[in-house]
Parts: sequence; C-alpha cells; structure tokens
Amino acid sequence: MTYRIALIPGDGIGTQVTEAAIEVAQKALPELACTSFPWSCDHYLQTGRMMPEEGIATLRGFDAIFLGAVGWPARVPDSVSLHGLLLPIRKAFVQYANIRPHRLLPGVQGPLRREGFDILCIRENTEGEYSGAGGRVHVGTPDEVAVETAIFTRVGVERILRFGFEQARLRRGKLASVTKSNAQKHSMVFWDEITALVAADYPDVAVSHYHVDAICARMVMAPETLDVVVASNLFGDILTDLGAAIQGGLGFAASANINPGRTAPSMFEPVHGSAPDIAHLGIANPIAAIWSVSMMLDHLGEAAAAARIMAALEATTARGIGTVPGQDRTDTITKAVLAALE
Ligand code: IPM
Ligand code: MN
Repeated sequence: MTYRIALIPGDGIGTQVTEAAIEVAQKALPELACTSFPWSCDHYLQTGRMMPEEGIATLRGFDAIFLGAVGWPARVPDSVSLHGLLLPIRKAFVQYANIRPHRLLPGVQGPLRREGFDILCIRENTEGEYSGAGGRVHVGTPDEVAVETAIFTRVGVERILRFGFEQARLRRGKLASVTKSNAQKHSMVFWDEITALVAADYPDVAVSHYHVDAICARMVMAPETLDVVVASNLFGDILTDLGAAIQGGLGFAASANINPGRTAPSMFEPVHGSAPDIAHLGIANPIAAIWSVSMMLDHLGEAAAAARIMAALEATTARGIGTVPGQDRTDTITKAVLAALE
C-alpha cells in the first residue's frame, strides 16, 4: 500500500522542517509517495495567488497533506496569505478537529515547576470566530465600522464535542469544555447546552466547564488536572500557544487538522509559524514537524510506524538533543532522530 502525500512546505522555516519531517517519515514508512507544491508567499508574489484556482481540487486526490508553515508578513499581509492557503484548506476539507498534544518530551524543561501533565487540546477548526463573516463600511472615514461575526452551528459544535468525548474515552476519561458563557450569552450558552446534551451519551466521561480565562490560569497552575480540552476556533488557537509554551516552546507543539469522516484528506502541520527572522540560520527545531508527521502516519492507519517515530523523538530528546531552543541545528536534531530509528 502506497500513501500519496501532498507537501506544502510553504514559507520560511516551513521548508526546512518539512524536509526534516518527511525524511524521518520515509525512513519509518518507505511507502510514502510525496508530491511537493510550491504554494507560498513567493508563489503569491510571482502569480498573484497563494495556490492555483484548482489547488483544492488537486489536493483532494491525496491521502494526506503535510504543511510546513505559511506567512511572511513583510512580503504579503498575513490576512492575505493565510486566507489564501491554510484556512481555506481546513474549511474545504472539513478538517473540523484540530488536535494538539501538550506534554513534555523527556529531557525538555518547560517553564513550569511541574512535569506530569498530558493535555490534548481539541480545537474547532472550521467555524466560530474564524468563519470570515463580516465586513467594513465607511472605510477610511471617521465613521468606519468593522464587524466580524462568530458563527456557531449546532452541527459544528456538536461534532467537535462528540469528537472530544471519543478522545477522552481513549485517554483518562476527562473532558474540559471551554467557553466564555458568563460574558457571551448567545453562542457560548449554546455551546454549554450542547455540551450537556452530548455528555448524556458519555456517562463514563467526567465533564468540567471552564471559562477561557480561568483555563488559561489552570494550564499554568495545575496542568496535570487537565486531560482533553475542547474549545472554539479562536479560544483553541490561543490555548494551544499557551500549551506550546508549557511544553517548552513552539518548537515542540504538533498538530493535526482532522476530517474525522474521512471524506477528504486531513492535514498535518507544526503549530509554529514560518519564523522569517531565523529562516536563514538553519536552527529551526524540527521536533514539532516530526511529531506532526507521526500523527499523520497514525491517521493513515500506520500506528506502528507512528509509534516508532515518537520513540525515536523521545530517545533523541532524552539525550539532550533538540531540548533547548536554538542550541542544536536542524540537521543535527534530524540526524539524531534518523539514527534513533535504526
Ligand atoms: C495556528 C495559526 C493559525 C491559526 C494562523 C496562522 C492563521 O496560528 O494554526 O495556530 O490561527 O489557526
Ligand atoms: Mn495559532
């Protein structure tokens, strides 16, 4: 069985970490047939588009997508580059579950004084605050108005919660639902109501409710009390940078944009961005990308190969390689992971 993988290395360090991650993936599972697409800010400057008009149709034929990073704000505004590539893929392929694990790899020292945490953030990935509904009127005048409407649908909220409950069942049986229903009385009360409805189908899962501000504090003060955390698109975005921070930094934070119904390819990417400031230095940490590629193999049904990659990553960091941001070069870390895969 050969898997067809679409690579979108993208911008900045995205190209370096993609190369590293795919080298590791192909060593663990040679049956990967990769096709690389040059879609990026450079591509935009050359063609006027982040990806061609038929980009989505092209990607649909693949078993999975691996994306490095998108964005180079000095060249192309982020609002253009992200809405031209990353965000439309998440929506078009109904990758409604964005999964981000937050735990310390062996040998990595996070900024907290505690170590025994293992959080799985599940972020709604297709609607909510990222719906793109809104507009501006009276542009450039003192009367200008900007509206950005968050859209929460029953289908969208219910399916992400259900997905979260299923994950909680596979883990420690705890689910934290994140809202801000003390201030946002429409969408977030709606979310709370749907949480209660879905929870009735999962009596074996212990549910708790947090306001997003309170769970921020908990992730710092008592992260070991959390298991699965389910949040809206924007809340999940913010919480997962906090999650990345407590696991040692963005260089360790992996993510999977999953279409659970498998009606279209899922996409795997590190949480970090393109980091233009260090793009020419060769010091990008490939660990987040390698972890993401392990999630990709797992999704493809190759659990053994995925586990071997995680074991190799953990053996590498346990030796102190790649554990301190900026200390080891990208290729040093990659070679160590490849050697650990032998
Ligand atoms: C992420 C990123 C993106 C997001 C940006 C680049 C649009 O921050 O994947 O967390 O907000 O989803
Ligand atoms: Mn983010």
